[in-house]
Amino acid sequence: MSIKTATLNGVATIEIARPEKKNAITGAMYSAMADALTVATADAAVRAVLITGQPGIFTSGNDIEDFMQRPPGNLESPAFVFMKALMGCEKPVIAAVTGAAIGIGTTMLLHCDFVYVSDEARLAMPFVSLGLVPEFASSLIVPQLMGNARAAEKLLLGDPFTGADAVECGIANAVLPASEVVKHARRVAERFNALPPGAVRETKRLMRRGRSAAILETIGVERDLFGARLQSPEAKEAFSAFFEKRKPDFSRF
Ligand code: COA
Repeated sequence: MSIKTATLNGVATIEIARPEKKNAITGAMYSAMADALTVATADAAVRAVLITGQPGIFTSGNDIEDFMQRPPGNLESPAFVFMKALMGCEKPVIAAVTGAAIGIGTTMLLHCDFVYVSDEARLAMPFVSLGLVPEFASSLIVPQLMGNARAAEKLLLGDPFTGADAVECGIANAVLPASEVVKHARRVAERFNALPPGAVRETKRLMRRGRSAAILETIGVERDLFGARLQSPEAKEAFSAFFEKRKPDFSRF
């Protein structure tokens, strides 16, 4: 089982647990995470959701093999269903980034309410290096959060960055020692047990309301480009290079 779920003391936990593949997320795993978010939303006893990974790895992003066999072509594809559930989750979502967070591993953090990062974690959005484009409104949210100069380092060059950088850029709340990050995130999640859920829900909705139309519009534009890019010779070269454990060669494009 590569997604573990549990509800304890008002907190629904979604744990990505596929360490042998660096927590790469398959379609089945996206579906399991989407289901867990739907169940958490419907369960009045759940006051907050915690998303976490394994020691040293949050997620290496989309499972590249699964991704090439079943490219996410439409709104019903598992990655979209998961991200829609995450963006639509009415309860606070807290991420405990236990290690590397690559691709969608970083993108999903842009849609969480609180993000706590291990001091060992590295984040990255290497879409360009993979011949792709950003996804789920990261091309809009990242420049808005940190300005175009720093966004260009992360989105055009795909430079990895630390938890401290993520805090400075407004992606994360705090950096914690690796042994503390999940405990701390859980403590924050449990604080919602003492707060009125209706006021929390309406405040979260208000905080997102002003930019939700632009986010949805951007997701549509990105999705069409991302789908086309997945079939591109550039992406094919990048993915083949990954599995052949060599550097990609883009000199012929
Ligand atoms: N999809 C599919 N398989 C993946 C994967 C992914 N995103 N990330 C890692 N794996 C697999 C590797 O193929 C390898 O499998 P193998 O043992 O059968 O050869 C295994 O997980 C371990 O990965 P490895 O690369 O050997 O570990 P590492 O510690 O050297 O590096 C990462 C870890 C996360 C830095 C590296 O795996 C990586 O860069 N992954 C791809 C990240 C990425 O580009 N994500 C965006 C996808 S859209």
